Amino acid sequence: MAEIKACIFDLDGVIVDTAKYHYRAWKRLCNKLGFDLTEEENESLKGISREGSLNILLKKGGLSLSDNKKADLTALKNGWYLEFIEKMKADEALPGAIEFIKATKESGRKIALGSSSRNALKILETLEIVDLFDAVIDGTKVSRGKPDPQTFQLGAEALKMHPCECVVFEDAQAGVEAALAGGMYIIGVGNKTTLNRANHTIEGFQNVGMEIFEKL
Ligand code: BG6
Ligand code: MG
Repeated sequence: MAEIKACIFDLDGVIVDTAKYHYRAWKRLCNKLGFDLTEEENESLKGISREGSLNILLKKGGLSLSDNKKADLTALKNGWYLEFIEKMKADEALPGAIEFIKATKESGRKIALGSSSRNALKILETLEIVDLFDAVIDGTKVSRGKPDPQTFQLGAEALKMHPCECVVFEDAQAGVEAALAGGMYIIGVGNKTTLNRANHTIEGFQNVGMEIFEKL
């Protein structure tokens, strides 16, 4: 059995239900550009940086745009996304997620955030959970986004842990690959088939306690 001393949590779609807001904003942008974005297609965008996501979508729509135009489009999408999260309340955390993080901390394990989002701190503040984290690695601190392992490697380093002492909680395929590439354990949060490369999968944190670490 693995000895897990630290947990690194993704944010969007793991701690809080913001993945739906990213999807709505990207879909709106795609519609503006003349094509659609299904929920299934959106799976491959999860965990990917803002710019990386736009590039995937432009390829799908067969569009080639200048860097200036691309910057305008990511700003537009982020503006719509911010409108959604500005209305968000502290109770939009996913069921059981904050309770699980608190229990993990009380068990003596270290806690880090490992998110691609540059809006992460704002969301942690809305949820009033900034103080729970021993380290926060977000999109402002990385040069290589998921599926590159940098986000989680920086998290492990900040916690002074070896990768094999860490487990990552992720809802995105890109995040699962990032954790595996970083040599960490990975628990998928969501669909078992979509996240089939994870070491273990849970549907959510409801009724999940410290026994989860025995699965690794
Ligand atoms: C990830 C989301 O957490 O953050 C992606 O899963 C998003 O969908 C990425 O593109 C970057 O987020 P932001 O908030 O900086 O645009
Ligand atoms: Mg996510």
